[in-house]
Amino acid sequence: MDDLELFKKVLTASAYPESAYRIEQISDSKSPAHKFRNFIVRTLRKQNKLLVKKREFNAADRDEGKDWPMFGYTMVGHKRLDNVQHAIETILEKDIPGDFVECGVWRGGCAMFMKAMLNTRGDTERRIWLADSFAGLPKPNESEFPDDTGYDYTDQDILAVPMETVKANFDRFDLLDARVEFLPGWFKDTLPDAGIGQIALLRADGDLYESTIQILDNLYDKVAPGGFVIIDDYKSWPPCKKAVDEFRARHGIDAPIHDVDWTGVYWIKP
Ligand SMILES: C[S@@+](CC[C@H](N)C(=O)[O-])C[C@H]1O[C@@H](n2cnc3c(N)ncnc32)[C@H](O)[C@@H]1O
Repeated sequence: MDDLELFKKVLTASAYPESAYRIEQISDSKSPAHKFRNFIVRTLRKQNKLLVKKREFNAADRDEGKDWPMFGYTMVGHKRLDNVQHAIETILEKDIPGDFVECGVWRGGCAMFMKAMLNTRGDTERRIWLADSFAGLPKPNESEFPDDTGYDYTDQDILAVPMETVKANFDRFDLLDARVEFLPGWFKDTLPDAGIGQIALLRADGDLYESTIQILDNLYDKVAPGGFVIIDDYKSWPPCKKAVDEFRARHGIDAPIHDVDWTGVYWIKP
């Protein structure tokens, strides 16, 4: 097993079956059963105890990034990390100019993998940009983006990972340096004026219609010809797919869409 394969096992936590235990999510349902469960969760939280749910580890699920590991650094799974590796190897081989951008970073693992690849290949020029609220998904803006109606994930505390935690995660593996750039805040506020120049790899992992369209509207023009555009949620989040399809139609993009796994896709900018 080479170093990058080993790093994938650490990032996805597939080396640790215990990571299949997951933090119980609190639903905001008003039913008595949910109220009771929320009461228990709040009580345990006050006592500083985590409520965890036992689940059997399933290697196939982790390969496909189908579960959220309780610990580890990314939820994208092995296949989507393999895809990032393929993209970066192609970019370096063909000398496609530009930085790598991850919009929607969670604990940072996928972006950590990008930086590890640059380090191992001896690239000292390119930057890695991490754009995230570092506070989870926005509340659906139903009037402006009706497709996001019903996709309210704001009660999912597990999605809100502070920037300092992500920086510490990079630092644990000696991956934090001046070429790792952080863009904290909502995409609509940070992406229009982000100091990003040319992009060789754009990875959109923001789930919602709003998040996906804001990524593409603000950053697609910066992607160099031959650069990769990866959409993490295309086949599993209908609002994300709709945003991508509408964007491509509006801009006459007919570059073929390639499958990565059960949800992710990518295309290469002509
Ligand atoms: C599915 S997670 C990303 C998973 C990550 N790529 C990984 O390697 O595990 C989605 C992330 O997108 C962020 N996000 C979604 N919409 C956003 C928006 N409009 N502005 C800022 N951050 C957003 C959330 O905070 C969350 O960290």
